[in-house]
Amino acid sequence: MKCIVAVTERLILRQMTKSDFDHLKEIFSDKETMKYYPSTKNDEDTKEWIYWTEENYRKFDIGLWIAEDKETGEFYGQCGIVPQKIKDKVEMEIGYLFKKTVWGRGYATEAALACRDLGILHLDFPKIISLIDPRNIPSIKVAERMGMKYEKNIFRWNKHLSIYSIEGPRASELLMLQE
Ligand SMILES: CC(C)(COP(=O)(O)OP(=O)(O)OC[C@H]1O[C@@H](n2cnc3c(N)ncnc32)[C@H](O)[C@@H]1OP(=O)(O)O)[C@@H](O)C(=O)NCCC(=O)NCCS
Repeated sequence: MKCIVAVTERLILRQMTKSDFDHLKEIFSDKETMKYYPSTKNDEDTKEWIYWTEENYRKFDIGLWIAEDKETGEFYGQCGIVPQKIKDKVEMEIGYLFKKTVWGRGYATEAALACRDLGILHLDFPKIISLIDPRNIPSIKVAERMGMKYEKNIFRWNKHLSIYSIEGPRASELLMLQE
């Protein structure tokens, strides 16, 4: 049975399983989608990715989740919360990666907002970040639509990355404004 984590207007976020291999591999082998990652991923990398995600569920009760269509169950991508160690401090990062054919429909933002609310309002994380290649404008736009602001640049995974972040009370204020 697949474990549902959140339901939004158009999406279901659920736990990743080994049965997602083919869909993930399709995304991971696309050069354009993986432009801001160190490389595309092969079969072995994809299996490791699923294993690493399952480990995150086991150890931390969070991880990357699969975003699929609420009505049809079509696989759209992944979005979730992963712990990242940044200068001896563990920060909670929202990450997102969607298949190219569904870009430009607002799904990434919808999923990321659900993760933001889950992390800050339900799991009580004081702060949530996103680590973004400064050239990745679509990703920066998703972060900003979550209410995140540019914090600083760091050097990580052999490249310069920007940290975007949002803190708890700010997210609560945003929710109150939405009501
Ligand atoms: C980052 C990524 C998820 C962003 O995808 P995206 O499609 O631009 O983002 P969204 O799904 O939130 O869609 C937003 C766009 O849909 C448009 N849109 C269309 N219909 C919409 C609707 N019903 N609701 C909301 N937005 C809608 C928005 O106006 C927006 O367009 P804009 O970017 O031109 O302003 C995608 O580029 C990706 O998967 N990239 C590869 C992986 C990656 O780089 N991940 C980030 C690593 S840090």
